[in-house]
Amino acid sequence: MDVRARTARLRGVTTLEDRLAALGDAARALAGALELDTTLDTIVRSAVEVTGARYAALGVLGEDDHIARFFHHGVDEDTVRRIGHYPTGKGLLGVLIRDPQTLRLDDLSSHPAASGFPPDHPAMGSFLGTSVTSHGRTFGNLYLTDKPGGFDAVDEELIEVLAAQAGAAIETATLSQRLRELAVADERERISRELHDGVIQWLFSIGMGLEAARTLLPEEASDIDERLGSAVDGLDGAIRELRAAIFRLRPQQAASLGLSAGVTELAREYEVNALIRPSLEVPPDIDAEVPIDVVADALQVVRESLSNAARHAQASSVHIRAVREGARLELAVRDDGVGFEADDRSRVGHGLANMRERADALGADLTIDSQPGAGTAVRLSIPIEQEASTP
Ligand SMILES: Nc1ncnc2c1ncn2[C@@H]1O[C@H](COP(=O)(O)OP(=O)(O)OP(=O)(O)O)[C@@H](O)[C@H]1O
Ligand SMILES: [Mg+2]
Repeated sequence: MDVRARTARLRGVTTLEDRLAALGDAARALAGALELDTTLDTIVRSAVEVTGARYAALGVLGEDDHIARFFHHGVDEDTVRRIGHYPTGKGLLGVLIRDPQTLRLDDLSSHPAASGFPPDHPAMGSFLGTSVTSHGRTFGNLYLTDKPGGFDAVDEELIEVLAAQAGAAIETATLSQRLRELAVADERERISRELHDGVIQWLFSIGMGLEAARTLLPEEASDIDERLGSAVDGLDGAIRELRAAIFRLRPQQAASLGLSAGVTELAREYEVNALIRPSLEVPPDIDAEVPIDVVADALQVVRESLSNAARHAQASSVHIRAVREGARLELAVRDDGVGFEADDRSRVGHGLANMRERADALGADLTIDSQPGAGTAVRLSIPIEQEASTP
């Protein structure tokens, strides 16, 4: 917007040319926006430019047709903080949600559904709202308030055009986000395959070459034999690190499978990477007893524990247990490996810290039992709702 237009805007006057120019700017900005939140911000700002309204907002509908996210323009952050919450979709906004048609009012408080403003909310008079459709369903509502002199039929036309552009832009942004996620997942899969089939096999064959060379050494060359031996140990260490890295790279699909299938999948991945099959103690009916919102965090703790076992333990057996005991889910991952000084806080890396965070988020108790030479057991005890099994 140039200076002249901006001055006119401040006086509450905008020419049709200015408004059409603003609509053109919006179209250009939206065509280039590939990130969803930026796109939604642009839509709200454009709505103000196009109509000359003082306030604009976009309420994004969640699963239950309530407003799940709210993008706004015109109300300063202090006021937003004092109001304390975004609209939830009652009152007038509820009308727009239930009946997604354009609604234009000279005074929004005169509408029968108007439920009034919360304390600290600025007064708003004129109102223009419409719905934004994307992927064939109502994505949210775009609405404007407080245009000096009120909204007219042209505003109504323009906002509908803007809403249509918005719908297309939202579709583009969500699809491109999906594509980026897919690209990352593909890339992870590709890298882990290359590491597993390429680099690890290569290191293996170098190690075998060195072992073969050792058998050819004459008795008296014990210092060379020692050096070759420590090179082989180094290679084994590198292979262990790579296997653990592959294990972490695998896209995290386990949580969508549920607890028992998720644990089985993690155990299978562990076997591929560490060449030991963990034994499982997971009753098949456990899924019915574990709330779905616990599964992802619980599986992440199993994953971290297995990753540590693969990387540090040199275990010959690993056991995973997930059983319900009363109102708790008891989860344990045990290995018979080298163990470590579990009380030594300086040892804590990302893995153990992450487990602790997940446990706190679940309100669960986490214990790590380990001693050098005595293996490691990670136990997580998660409170779950008592099933109403007794009358
Ligand atoms: N199952 C295990 N067996 C032997 N040592 C372990 C085991 N689990 C953890 N440790 C020891 O505890 C340390 C901390 O583990 P933690 O998972 O926090 O970090 P990390 O595995 O070293 O690195 P990362 O941040 O990548 O997870 C490890 O470095 C290792 O010495
Ligand atoms: Mg770790």
